[in-house]
Amino acid sequence: MQFRKLREFSDIALLFEDIDGRIDFASVFGRSAPVHVEIGSGKGTFLVSEAQANPDINYFGIEWANKYYRYAVDRMGRWGLSNVRMIRADAAELVQDFFPDDSVDCFHIYFPDPWPKKRHHKRRFFCDMNLGAILRCLTSSGKVNLATDHEDYFNQMTDVLGRAFACGAMKPMDFIRPAGAQDGETVGTNYERKYMKEGRKTYTIAAQLADKTKWVRPVEEDQVE
Ligand SMILES: C[S@@+](CC[C@H](N)C(=O)[O-])C[C@H]1O[C@@H](n2cnc3c(N)ncnc32)[C@H](O)[C@@H]1O
Repeated sequence: MQFRKLREFSDIALLFEDIDGRIDFASVFGRSAPVHVEIGSGKGTFLVSEAQANPDINYFGIEWANKYYRYAVDRMGRWGLSNVRMIRADAAELVQDFFPDDSVDCFHIYFPDPWPKKRHHKRRFFCDMNLGAILRCLTSSGKVNLATDHEDYFNQMTDVLGRAFACGAMKPMDFIRPAGAQDGETVGTNYERKYMKEGRKTYTIAAQLADKTKWVRPVEEDQVE
């Protein structure tokens, strides 16, 4: 972690305590435009390059860890980006309880925490329950774009999306390679760069909304009486 005085940039940072009900993205960004959400933005590398490459898109980053959140806000503020906002929050709670229906054009989820121990798998963000919330929030042609270095988590992503494909809620599509990905990179985030040095492979999967009314959330073991 680089040590420098981090500035708060109130035009970039949205404070969780200031949210009152469902988030009005047009009001948050001061304009109506397609909304892309990144879950677990880390130091904000994806958002900085993507927001520069696509000025007509509003980018909304969610990061739980305070030190990364503050670093990302400082970085975006220094770049003078007007089409990106950051919030420090638990993404599962935020999407489920505070995102409006039909409001997000793309969810980007890159190298989410894999929680490798089996007893911790229920903490993984990309699960059936959170996919239900994502589907509610997606616009009619909305997408999810996912990458991970973790094979077992990739298998879980494939299973969760496979159920959405089987019931007709979503359809497969090609992974969208982010603007910041350099030669040899698939995503171009800090974690991909770190994992590439360790010789780890990047797995990707992506999907587009087909018909959200068809989504059938499977009954999980802990729901069975
Ligand atoms: C492995 S890092 C990947 C960061 C970045 N996407 C990248 O590829 O470099 C996972 C990030 O997700 C954040 N995170 C984990 N759980 C989260 C949650 N429930 N809500 C928001 N952020 C979360 C972590 O704090 C961490 O910064």
